[in-house]
Amino acid sequence: MTILKTVAEVREVVRRWHSQGLSVGLVPTMGYLHEGHASLIDKSAEQNDKTVVSVFVNPMQFGPSEDLDSYPRDLNRDADIVSAHGGNVIFNPEPEEMYHSDFSSFVDMTVLTDELCGLSRPVHFRGVCTVVTKLFNIVKPDRAYFGQKDAQQLAVIKHMVSDLNMDIEIIGCPIVRESDGLAKSSRNTYLNREERKAAVVLSETIKLGETLVKNGETDCAGILAKMKANIDKEPLAEIDYVKIVDASTMQQIEKIDRPILCAMAVYIGKTRLIDNFFTE
Ligand code: PAJ
Repeated sequence: MTILKTVAEVREVVRRWHSQGLSVGLVPTMGYLHEGHASLIDKSAEQNDKTVVSVFVNPMQFGPSEDLDSYPRDLNRDADIVSAHGGNVIFNPEPEEMYHSDFSSFVDMTVLTDELCGLSRPVHFRGVCTVVTKLFNIVKPDRAYFGQKDAQQLAVIKHMVSDLNMDIEIIGCPIVRESDGLAKSSRNTYLNREERKAAVVLSETIKLGETLVKNGETDCAGILAKMKANIDKEPLAEIDYVKIVDASTMQQIEKIDRPILCAMAVYIGKTRLIDNFFTE
């Protein structure tokens, strides 16, 4: 397993692989890897001859009051996880390598980014689309792997790839959870003991919503009211949003009559956590 810091180095390695007829999978991450990331690396190693994992805390996708500076980082630990799961290269550029001082081109999206996390984090998806496009252009993967944990991000990336005719297969992977149900996240490290206990309210509420939908409830307002009431019982939790949207447009709907995404963002103390479920 090799750690590469420059675009030129990655290009050279990938060019060699492609000339040997080898397929390449890309797993974009911001590092501080956990079993959720590892499941993406496993899938890529299973489906491709070579796997590149990018570890880059992308400044462009953080708002001014967000956690860019405190975001956890540990490249040595990440390297152990990547090699244990069959990754071949970590691409770990410095911000200056990705964004030269005269950087001025962006990939932006409308509609799909107007709702959910796009509303609370106005610059977020422009930063995600721009950095993922750059990573695609640098690594030129055959396939790229994204988690259902960030369901709106997965939908946005799929849409971008289709809109812009990017010749890359996007593979969505299921949410990996802790034993009590909390979705694994690098941000879980921010939680103190009390908050960690309280955080289980997210996955419990997701389970509640899923059960209501499975049992045939179709009125979104009714389902959301029950879910919100469940979160409100937890004193450390403060709702950012809980919504049901059309799974393909990410626009809110009133009645469940098509595939949906039910997504939430909830503050536990100062930490903003997300979770979701969807139907097909
Ligand atoms: P990051 O939060 O590090 O997540 C990297 C990938 O891991 C994403 O596709 C995310 O959905 C997936 N992932 C995170 N937790 C998961 C879990 N519990 N189960 C399954 N998959 C999980 O998402 C980003 O980084 C960035 O926005 C990025 C795409 C790298 C662009 O900067």
